[in-house]
Amino acid sequence: VKCIGILTSGGDAPGMNAAIRAVTRAAIYNGLQVKGIYRGYKGLVTGEIKEFKSQNVSNIIQLGGTILKTARCKEFTTPEGRQQAYDNMKKEGIDALVVIGGDGSLTGARIFAQEFDVPCIGLPGTIDNDLYGTDTTIGYDTALNTILDAVDKIRDTATSHERLFFVEVMGRDAGFLALNGAIASGAEAAIIPEFSTEVDQLEEFIKNGFRKSKNSSIVLVAESELTGGAMHYAERVKNEYPQYDVRVTILGHLQRGGSPTAHDRILASRLGAAAIDAIMEGQRNVMIGIEHDEVVYVPFTKAIKNDKPIKKELVNVLRALSI
Ligand code: F6P
Repeated sequence: VKCIGILTSGGDAPGMNAAIRAVTRAAIYNGLQVKGIYRGYKGLVTGEIKEFKSQNVSNIIQLGGTILKTARCKEFTTPEGRQQAYDNMKKEGIDALVVIGGDGSLTGARIFAQEFDVPCIGLPGTIDNDLYGTDTTIGYDTALNTILDAVDKIRDTATSHERLFFVEVMGRDAGFLALNGAIASGAEAAIIPEFSTEVDQLEEFIKNGFRKSKNSSIVLVAESELTGGAMHYAERVKNEYPQYDVRVTILGHLQRGGSPTAHDRILASRLGAAAIDAIMEGQRNVMIGIEHDEVVYVPFTKAIKNDKPIKKELVNVLRALSI
């Protein structure tokens, strides 16, 4: 491998820039040429590609978003689109690809690597933390901290008015942001998709006597068809428990922005450097993760299986501490 291409794809996540910087600098340090591919797989299909030197990634470690831009690319889901992408790669002299993104992006990399003999390395970049084989994903910690800031503010008004708030957080079909966000912000409960079929989480919360020692309450609800979202629970409370004064806040895309935390910057830097080590070792078609503080290589098929477990222990902690 002489030249690597790097792209960010899918939903952006704070720390993607730190990862771009790490991959670029580690590659140059190891004598490789680097090309930045714009707008995810789209730039590969349309040939929006530019050589990256060390200066191209100066002063970006602290920035949210991604300087390479990102997109969810339809063309790349077709064989013709992928052929075009491959042709452009060859034209540019790119012989390995580093893809930073979530499960959709890594699925694209897996298919591409299977069709064409191209080494692809994935880095977990998503606020959802839903990739298996890494303790956390790039952007997750920053999003959690953003949630804390928001919930702290909501708490002020919730307490003054003695209200019950449902705060909806992102995560697609994963409850990591909701559950850990709830623990860290001192919320009274979290409603998460992982347990949506087991119990009626609202009923459980109300039955547990959530207002024993307090007059306001905050429940974090993970967005997902499986939970139904915060609005759904607010409606239910209005109908089933009209004695409570209910409000809803949907945090939305503000969770995707902001300067990455130290945790995300260090994670992105380690993963980016490890991606180049992996390429130099001849690894291909793996996601780089960090588990128990060690760099690990996770086959794409495993990383994107969508079965990253959420600890029941966390649910118990939340329950015990919210009395
Ligand atoms: O995967 C990241 C994420 O922010 C999810 O939490 C959310 O469901 C989705 O992306 C939103 O996507 P979009 O930015 O396309 O609206």
